[in-house]
Parts: sequence; C-alpha cells; structure tokens
Amino acid sequence: MSKRKIVAGNWKMNLTVEEGVALVSGLINKGLQQKVSNTEVILAPPALHLLTLHNLVQNSAIKLAAQNCSDRVSGAFTGEISVNMLAGAHIEYVIIGHSERRIYFHESNISLKDKVDLALEYGVTPIFCCGEPKEIRIDEKQDRYVFRQIEESLFHLSEEQISKVIIAYEPVWAIGTGLTATPEQAEAMHAYIRKELANRYTTDTANAIPILYGGSVNAANAKSLFNQPNVDGGLVGGASLKVDEFYQIIQAAQ
Ligand code: PGA
Repeated sequence: MSKRKIVAGNWKMNLTVEEGVALVSGLINKGLQQKVSNTEVILAPPALHLLTLHNLVQNSAIKLAAQNCSDRVSGAFTGEISVNMLAGAHIEYVIIGHSERRIYFHESNISLKDKVDLALEYGVTPIFCCGEPKEIRIDEKQDRYVFRQIEESLFHLSEEQISKVIIAYEPVWAIGTGLTATPEQAEAMHAYIRKELANRYTTDTANAIPILYGGSVNAANAKSLFNQPNVDGGLVGGASLKVDEFYQIIQAAQ
C-alpha cells in the first residue's frame, strides 16, 4: 500500500513562541519550503503559537493542528478554545483525546465524541487518539479497550464523516517512556482497528482512513514502524522538538 503518509509533531506544553518560531524556521530551511512528496507534515504547537506560526508556514509543507479544543461552541468556559475559533484562524487539524487529556483532564469517550462532532461540523480535521494503558496490555485486553474508545467516540459518525477523521494509536505505556511498540505490535493494532472500521463502515472507507502510530517514535525507529502496511505515519512528541531528528522522521515516511 503506497498511501499518503502523515507525520505530525505534538509539542505538548513546550517552547515559548520565540522558540517555536525558531524550530519551524529550522524545519522550513531544512527542506520543508515546499510540499514533501506523498507526506503530509503537521505540527501541533501550544495554542498561543498558532497565529504566529500560521503566517510563518504559508506556502511551506507544514500544516497546523491545535492540541485540543472545547466540547462547546462558545460561552462561559474560562480558558477553553473552541473549534470554530480554530476554523476562523484557518487551523486545519485538531488533536482530540490525547491520553494526557484523558488522564490529567478526565476526558471521557463521550465528551470526546462531542469534540469530534464539532470539529467535523466546523471543517477542522480531528486527529483522534486512542490507546491502552500498561495494565491493559499486560492483561492482553488492548483490542477490546481500543475498540471501546473508537466505538464510543467515532462509530456514531456517518461514512462520509468518518472518512474525514485521522486516527492515532498511541499506547499509553509507550508515550514519553522510550518504550516504543515494536513494529509488529503497532501493525497488529492498526490492522485490528482497520478491521473494525471495515466492519462498521466499508472496506474502502476503512482502507482510506489514516492510522498513525504514536509513542516514542524517533529517527532510529521511524522507518521500521512506517514500513508496516497499516501504519500510515506517526504522531511524534519529544522527537518533534528537535529540527534534525523530526526532519529525519519525515524523511523516513517517504
Ligand atoms: P512521545 O509522545 O513521542 O514523546 O512518546 C507521543 C505523543 O504523546 O503524541
């Protein structure tokens, strides 16, 4: 399958705006002035960076994502950012349901469903994260666990809606730990997710949905992960904060 690959960088709560500008300028100078053939590059900086970086990435290969959005459109929700604000600022993607949001901010499959609905309504592409914690993997119950996450947050969508979603499988035990899933573990879960998507929708739709792997992706392991038939790219945390390493990961997707 020589499908389009996606490499997304999740900066989490790192870098000042000035440092973010330096990182993006570094990536553009390294070779992201123009589209990278067959690979889409997305960066998810902190929300405060988005407008400044949006100007900087014009006419480059880089697209922008927010790391989160509210499950409401507007109102008295101090500190929140809504998806219609993102759409108004021409931000094309939003990460929804990252495990850090689920764990530290108690986001549930049901509230994430509302976020996915709003993102689609406002034309912002959701990058929907799923993935099991360590104890679930030890019990070998990861398939069921991930199934529930996608069933409860995504399976109410129509065929047309689901085909606009990007899924990121990020096993919690692999995030920021240096413990990457093996290419075989990643492939097995991605194939499983695709099989369930095909059961709920059609095989064509399931095959077209990008499924990214996330969890300690780095320049050394990216190629073996991205070479798996059901791995359509990566969601990269720590290694996206370094120009050279992130650029090598983008190269590994080609
Ligand atoms: P990591 O983070 O690459 O630092 O493990 C991945 C993520 O949380 O998206």
